[in-house]
Amino acid sequence: MTRKESTVPRRLHFEIFRYNPEDSGSVPHMQTFELDEAPYMSLFIALNQIRETQDPSLQFDFACRSAICGSCGMMVNGRPALGCRTLTSDLPRTIRLHPLPVFKLIGDLSVDTGTWFRQMVEKSEAWIHSEQAFDPEAQEERMDDELAQAIYEGDRCIECGCCVASCGAANLNADFAGPAGLNRMARFLMDPRDSRGDADWFEIVSNSDGVFGCIGMMACHDVCPKELPLLEVYAYLRRKVLTTKIRH
Ligand code: SF4
Ligand code: SF4
Ligand code: FES
Repeated sequence: MTRKESTVPRRLHFEIFRYNPEDSGSVPHMQTFELDEAPYMSLFIALNQIRETQDPSLQFDFACRSAICGSCGMMVNGRPALGCRTLTSDLPRTIRLHPLPVFKLIGDLSVDTGTWFRQMVEKSEAWIHSEQAFDPEAQEERMDDELAQAIYEGDRCIECGCCVASCGAANLNADFAGPAGLNRMARFLMDPRDSRGDADWFEIVSNSDGVFGCIGMMACHDVCPKELPLLEVYAYLRRKVLTTKIRH
């Protein structure tokens, strides 16, 4: 009988990173908690039980509980994952939780991904640039199905930060666009409604903070909870850069 099929509930052993950067007396440390496992228990459920029954000061983020809002990313036994989507039954009895690296720590397992994503969006101006005045009467612009699907794939990113946390380059270079940033660039680069040309994008993408900062080990691809086609994204960006006529 496998562990998943076992009817004997496990006593889970949590080791959770604790630190409050707002409190000058706070020292980073690991705190242990014990909890009886329940069927279909997610880390969201487990952490809420710990907070309700053992330590109301424990900080962590959740909102949607269904892999949509992107707020519950954390390091689970050394690997970035969504807490709401991770079942304790898929983990060993000892579960070590840390906040995602790269992002500013708010406290314990809670990090500020919003500031990181905002600066990334602003740096690459990741929005539609258009000279056309807005016409509310105009018909929707038509788009090739395949292209629309590729853009939709990029838009599925929930900005959870798991890929960024897993990325060695993003951990070392704060200016690197990171996997989510490269995905965002590709999404607008392929959008025909964006008036920026390949040469404009070349300036943004073709440097060590863009696609050439990626060392290609694909950790990001392995941890993305939405299974975005990041491999294809980087290949697309590299192809674009290599086929773009450079401005002189
Ligand atoms: S493949 Fe590139 S973007 Fe992805 S984790 Fe590795 S270095 Fe980062
Ligand atoms: S690309 Fe995937 S892992 Fe990265 S932020 Fe988006 S959804 Fe999360
Ligand atoms: S709580 Fe929204 S993604 Fe996990």
